Amino acid sequence: MLYVDAASCVDCGACATACPADAIVPHTTLTSAQQPFLTLNAEYFEVFPHSDRSILAPVHEQRRLTRKGLFRVAVVGAGPAGLYAADELLKHPEISVDVFDRLPTPYGLVRAGVAPDHQHTKQIEKLFSQIESQPGFRYFLGVEVGKDVSQAELAARYHAIVYTVGAASDKPLGVPGDDLPGSLSATDFVGWYNGHPDKQDLPIRMDAESNPSGRVVIVGNGNVALDCARILAEDPDLLARTDVSDEPLGVLRESNIREVVILGRRGPAQAAFTVPELVGLAGHAGLNVIVDTGDLPPERALAGSDVKSRLLRELSEREPDPGKRTIVLRFLSSPVRVVGEGRVSAVEVGRNRLRTDEQGVVRAVATGETETLETGMLLRAVGYKGLPVADLPYDAATGVVPNDRGRVLPGVYVAGWVKRGPTGFIGTNKSDAEETIEQLLDDLDAGAIPEPVSDASTIAAVVRSRQPAMVDLAGWQAIDREEKRRGATAGRPRVKIVDIDEMRRIAARSTRPRYARLRRGRG
Ligand SMILES: Cc1cc2nc3c(=O)[nH]c(=O)nc-3n(C[C@H](O)[C@H](O)[C@H](O)COP(=O)(O)OP(=O)(O)OC[C@H]3O[C@@H](n4cnc5c(N)ncnc54)[C@H](O)[C@@H]3O)c2cc1C
Ligand SMILES: NC(=O)c1ccc[n+]([C@@H]2O[C@H](COP(=O)([O-])OP(=O)(O)OC[C@H]3O[C@@H](n4cnc5c(N)ncnc54)[C@H](OP(=O)(O)O)[C@@H]3O)[C@@H](O)[C@H]2O)c1
Repeated sequence: MLYVDAASCVDCGACATACPADAIVPHTTLTSAQQPFLTLNAEYFEVFPHSDRSILAPVHEQRRLTRKGLFRVAVVGAGPAGLYAADELLKHPEISVDVFDRLPTPYGLVRAGVAPDHQHTKQIEKLFSQIESQPGFRYFLGVEVGKDVSQAELAARYHAIVYTVGAASDKPLGVPGDDLPGSLSATDFVGWYNGHPDKQDLPIRMDAESNPSGRVVIVGNGNVALDCARILAEDPDLLARTDVSDEPLGVLRESNIREVVILGRRGPAQAAFTVPELVGLAGHAGLNVIVDTGDLPPERALAGSDVKSRLLRELSEREPDPGKRTIVLRFLSSPVRVVGEGRVSAVEVGRNRLRTDEQGVVRAVATGETETLETGMLLRAVGYKGLPVADLPYDAATGVVPNDRGRVLPGVYVAGWVKRGPTGFIGTNKSDAEETIEQLLDDLDAGAIPEPVSDASTIAAVVRSRQPAMVDLAGWQAIDREEKRRGATAGRPRVKIVDIDEMRRIAARSTRPRYARLRRGRG
């Protein structure tokens, strides 16, 4: 969340115009749902006056390489970390960057994770399109490193490889029955409604027959849980104005879901969702939000003076409207067992109490009390998890590639979720990528990275021999234009293409040599 210091701001408006993610909004244009941010902003500087901070942000001198020569870097993964890493590298005119992604479309979780009802967040794509248009930048999209091309083949042609492959899997829940049909991970569910090509065939049902209770239970109360809950409870006519994937929209239109219960294993003060997301939920006029503090009365459970407790207290005092769908924020609750024959029909939920351990960490401890909640769908939103990356070390407990500030070894680096684990916002990956690239530049300058043994120009031929339908920048731009064109006719920002072959066909039309198009034109 961004705070603007009202005491030193001269109100010129330049930051609001320049911010690529629209994260800075003039107070005069706040909607009623955004009004709480006025107080939050003002209060921030009361609590953290930053009196020791200079008003002007220092502009650091741009580092320059001392080693002479031309250098090529491969970036694997075109999500936020990959694009920020490429941007950082391209500040050095002697470095050129090739960015690989296994999908024919870039931007990682900005395309396939950020919720469709958060279109303003997707404006970061404007910044990414500036990064990819810089001289020295090339895309190899639809190319999976580790399958279509190996690390050894890249290492032979590039001075360095930066892996920014994210965290594609999810943490298990580990309770009996969580493998029943109807129980799925938020990772799958999010990919499904966001048009990730790998997730379109999931058998996700929300009809009355599969879920007569009309209830979904979500485990975990991070921002991903809130995203999933909003999508499940949102008015489909509103979702139809977003870039939500087409088939899921059809399923959501026919949905029988009336209530989404979010289970947080700890208390309200430990909830993983962030204040801006809670403000957004509280300001949603079309939904009831109920706060369930279990055996503790809300005035005791929500007694804190922090912003989160205050907002939750305010929500707990609202009267629900029976005509609206409901999201229940339930605390001190964990699933103990998933019940069902052939399909989820209920979840046994255990009550917890809090205990602070020797390290001062507040932990949930089961009280032994349980109750059964009927449901036809259980979503585990307990965090993402990185998968092993071919030819790199892997820490199975944390799901990351062990590294020192991004350096795996001289010449091989990581940034983003594969480096630090699945936490943080889009912007967090910028400082994270900067730290990694700093190590890479240090290694280049120190002579720790030898010259590659093969000519870098041969990489395109190698990739095309394995993946003839590889998509380059022009190809991606053609897919982007086509999605926006289809969206414009339907009053939507874009209609996502989810079929990889169709993406490749559209991309191929844009990259076919000009003379071939002219010849075809002559008939
Ligand atoms: C559901 C969800 C919603 C979110 N919403 C927000 C939000 O609203 N605002 C916000 O600030 N942050 C949000 N975040 C967090 C943000 O998306 C992440 O911080 C960010 O995407 C992590 O960037 P990354 O580049 O490390 O990984 P990713 O974004 O996952 O990118 C990794 C890329 O690597 C590619 N890849 C993987 N393996 C290979 C391979 N072998 N070869 C080639 N390519 C490969 C993938 O296809 C992918 O494109 C959200 C996260 C999730 C999970
Ligand atoms: N709009 C946005 O800005 C946005 C949207 C989506 C995601 N993101 C970011 O993306 C990152 C990932 O989000 P996330 O929601 O996946 O992860 P998260 O913030 O780490 O939340 C994970 C949740 O799962 C719970 N949990 C973990 N293991 C559990 C278990 N075994 N049983 C019950 N509960 C369990 C955690 O509880 P404990 O706290 O008790 O461990 C926590 O509530 C976050 O940094 C998030 O802020 C941002």
